Amino acid sequence: MSQPLFQITEEHLETGLRGFPVGYCTTSSVDPDKGLFYRGKPVSELCHWSAEKTIYLLYHGQEPSEQELKKFIENLQQRSHLSKDLIAHIHHLPRRGHPMALFSCAIMMLGMYELTGDYKEDCLNLIAKVPLLGAYLINYHANFGVTPAAEPHKGYIENFVHMLACPKSEGLTEAMRLFNILHYDHGGGNLSTFVGKAVASGLEDLYGSIAAAMNALAGPRHGRANQESLEFVKGLVAQLGSQSTQEEVEQAIRDKLANKELVYGFGHAVLRVEDPRASVYYEVGERHYAEEPLMQMALKLRKAGTKVLKENPKITNPYPNVDAVSGALLTAAGFPYPEYYTVLFGISRCVGIAIQIVYERTVARGGKGTPIVRPKYIYRPY
Ligand code: MLT
Repeated sequence: MSQPLFQITEEHLETGLRGFPVGYCTTSSVDPDKGLFYRGKPVSELCHWSAEKTIYLLYHGQEPSEQELKKFIENLQQRSHLSKDLIAHIHHLPRRGHPMALFSCAIMMLGMYELTGDYKEDCLNLIAKVPLLGAYLINYHANFGVTPAAEPHKGYIENFVHMLACPKSEGLTEAMRLFNILHYDHGGGNLSTFVGKAVASGLEDLYGSIAAAMNALAGPRHGRANQESLEFVKGLVAQLGSQSTQEEVEQAIRDKLANKELVYGFGHAVLRVEDPRASVYYEVGERHYAEEPLMQMALKLRKAGTKVLKENPKITNPYPNVDAVSGALLTAAGFPYPEYYTVLFGISRCVGIAIQIVYERTVARGGKGTPIVRPKYIYRPY
């Protein structure tokens, strides 16, 4: 008899399945005290890798040789195209609504054109095509202008930035590479990943499962927290000015808490330390964008928020998460369009979710795949 991994008592009900083990995640892990690892490697190391090499690691489970990486890049490049009809459909989506609503519709449409029904093929196709899809969608929704034709040979991120029709600054490609790499995966139980795998457990195809996952990501408590957190940082700059002192920022946070307002960008369901993804962004922000007002405020908040939140013993994680600073970095690097930050998150997170779906559908349980998700709810009228 194996030992119980978790004892469920009544107090665990209606707590969002926090901490319930439900399966294995082969791509990444989130340690409460050390943060995110892809296939055992810390993100502080991976943030120096190319997007293609990091995706290879997540997909194949090991670091590629030069030859393997070259072949993998060629494979992705061959898949990096979208049909004219699909692009025309994207250009007919209603512009009203949050860009994430359009993004999940666009993924469903991508499936209508590209579905093979083989989870592995569909996973690689999706990974190759999703930056192109995202670029068309953002350019259309934001009215940036005509999307430049794809040039996949430039590189996975380089091509995405090339296809964005907005003005580009020098540091944009590097900021997009970092953002993309650091959002690929976050263990098996984050909401969008869990939803994507749950939908796939009913044998929905990869595109439908990913579209469902993107709807889960769209919520302000999950992926859209990056947009909301930047608005919070902007609000503080507007309230206190760009020359504010550390003490003034602290006082502003105390006032917000006293008014029962949310302090955005702090805390996490699993982490009990500063999110190492945030630490990478802070480091880059300090190095390259220390003069930018939003980055300055994000850096002041890093200390002030933690100090004030630590005073409340009920707060289990008073530290910044990835959303506390990712928007400030994107803005400082020349992409000041917060409405699209969750789409950028989605373009990246599709990678990890798709690879996890491939595992659950084709490898788990000796290749049989995990059965349809069907947890128990206890009947209790109220
Ligand atoms: C994520 O990257 O998905 C977020 O940090 C949320 C989570 O891990 O639950």
